[in-house]
Amino acid sequence: MRQALEQLLTPYGQQHLLTFWDELTPAERDALAAQIQQIDFAEIARLRSLADQQTDWLALARRAESPPAFRRSHGGESISASAARARGDEALARGQLGSILVAGGQGTRLGWPHPKGTYPIGPVSDSSLFRILFERLLALGRHYGVGMPLYLMTSPATHAETVEYLEAQQRFGLSADDLHFFCQAQMPAVDAASGRLLLEDKGRLALSPDGHGGMLAALVRSGGLADMARRGLRHVFYLQVDNPLLRVADPEFVGYHLLSGSEMSTQVVAKREPRDKVGNVVSVDGRLRIIEYSDLPDEAAKERQPDGSLKIWAGNTAAHLFERDFLERVQAAATALPFHVARKKVPYVETVGDRRGQRVEPAEPNAIKFERFIFDLLPEARRAIVMEVDAPREFTPVKNGPGAAADSPETVRATMIALHAEWLQAAGAEMAPGVPVEIGPLFALEADDLAGKIPTGLRVTQPMFFDGSQG
Ligand code: UD1
Repeated sequence: MRQALEQLLTPYGQQHLLTFWDELTPAERDALAAQIQQIDFAEIARLRSLADQQTDWLALARRAESPPAFRRSHGGESISASAARARGDEALARGQLGSILVAGGQGTRLGWPHPKGTYPIGPVSDSSLFRILFERLLALGRHYGVGMPLYLMTSPATHAETVEYLEAQQRFGLSADDLHFFCQAQMPAVDAASGRLLLEDKGRLALSPDGHGGMLAALVRSGGLADMARRGLRHVFYLQVDNPLLRVADPEFVGYHLLSGSEMSTQVVAKREPRDKVGNVVSVDGRLRIIEYSDLPDEAAKERQPDGSLKIWAGNTAAHLFERDFLERVQAAATALPFHVARKKVPYVETVGDRRGQRVEPAEPNAIKFERFIFDLLPEARRAIVMEVDAPREFTPVKNGPGAAADSPETVRATMIALHAEWLQAAGAEMAPGVPVEIGPLFALEADDLAGKIPTGLRVTQPMFFDGSQG
């Protein structure tokens, strides 16, 4: 076996991966061989050679124009909010909508040693992100009297624990038939200077998820896209795991998307600061695209309109809507979703010199990682539209660990409490100041759903969770 592997690796200068072969147990050898056989070394070499060809982001940002956007409850471009809502209601009631939840990330910034979706975010209930998002789907399904199938993407790092957690919770009420798990692929990390693949351990390559853009290929491989066709799903809502206020499969959004004949639609919020950590939705040469925050040069980020507002203002919430037809068309070219290159610190086992066999914890970025971003499909759509929503009502992602100034569990919970207190007040409740409240999706999906559900003259003087999952 060693000889065959050597023959495979030598043309690409990757023989160092076998440095510790003689020290490995037969099982470890098999595992390493399996990892090596899955790598497309020619592709890795090609990607690395492209790594230095950087896009001129400043030039691109200078050509960028502000994207036209529909606004929540206000409409725009000859489509009213009520027409959109009616059209969306119709599509949902016909059971034409499926959802894709990407949950393959490792939540490193949050510092939670489990899949991020299991994080207890509910300010009173301690409900996990998964529970809140699943209950939204369940509530919609009950409202429209249809199934709301969910395609959930994990990665090798999150798969087993995610499946086990959700099964133990009986999928928070979603039927087994409506939940389709699929697992994304991985890419190797390469040493930035030499292009050699890194070993995480003597018998294991350093691999990491191939980005949420790996979703499409993984969905196709798992049979998920074919399953959508079989079920007659025509529109696909795409969501990330980190935003508990997200209006999953929102009918108004679906309506703008359908009435404008869009193939891919995306939601934005107005950025507060030039350097907010969100993708920037812009229009370049008449096509929508996203410039990730890390790629947006300072000079372009800070540019303002005569009225003082930011020129590049539209921050992406990463909630998208796809036509299934569109996914089918582009999936044939799924491998053409470009890889983005990131320089990262990746610990590794040294294979040469005095420190051979030792584990190295680099202080500076030493490696290149390759990731695909799903939003790169936006310019591929024949027609694409944008809908703007209010951040304090719909977008509060948990990204950072407790104590961080922004996007931390505390800031997210405070935003949830403020919104739900506002709903309760609008429904006639009297709120003692500073009392935490939380409304579960099965109790109410939006403010209007509270009508008739809370007792007249309700005074909230202690923490309350309006659950709805029992009834
Ligand atoms: C992301 C978006 C950003 C957007 C912001 C909104 C990217 C590159 N950036 O930023 O444009 O404004 O969210 O909150 O997407 N995931 C996988 N597999 C992977 C990598 C990620 O499933 O290989 C999933 C994660 O589980 C998560 C989501 O993708 O649900 C976002 O990943 P994350 O790394 O948190 O993106 P951000 O940098 O926060």
